[in-house]
Amino acid sequence: MAYTIKVNGKAQTVDVESDTPLLWVLRDTIGMVGTKFGCGAGLCGACTVHLDGVAVRSCQTPISRVGVKAVTTIEGIGETPIGASVQKAWIDHDVMQCGYCQAGQIMSATSLLKKTPRPTDDQIESAMTGNICRCACYTRIRTAIRQAAGMAPALVAAPSPQILVASAAASVPTKG
Ligand code: FES
Ligand code: FES
Repeated sequence: MAYTIKVNGKAQTVDVESDTPLLWVLRDTIGMVGTKFGCGAGLCGACTVHLDGVAVRSCQTPISRVGVKAVTTIEGIGETPIGASVQKAWIDHDVMQCGYCQAGQIMSATSLLKKTPRPTDDQIESAMTGNICRCACYTRIRTAIRQAAGMAPALVAAPSPQILVASAAASVPTKG
């Protein structure tokens, strides 16, 4: 059956069975592979996308339930101001290790901050608890969320190696 869904602002028409999970439509039919398959059972959060801004598990969302709701994926979240701040905080805090879970983590964090711009630690915990990270980046994820919410100072970027070399060279006394 043909379905037209809106993904990151663009209409996409797909011809799939009504019970096909949105995850497979995104990855296999449309070819957007940023959204990851982890457990396929709604338990890990790797497949998280937004439907009208709300985080959902795309492995548990049949295409027939999407309707006219706007689908946002990791490929499009950086176009929103909150998504861009979350991605910046992730980079500033070097959150990722293997990275496999991180699309889902960013989608859950962005959904949280859209609804609750200055979340408490308990609210962060409760919003993120379903997103599993086998590399255990949990502390950095929580710190990055606090930065994106404006509740922790942004990290100051370390000077580049070139600047350090130039500065060390300038400090070496010349023979007079
Ligand atoms: S793949 Fe969907 S929750 Fe794990
Ligand atoms: S960064 Fe490796 S699973 Fe989360």
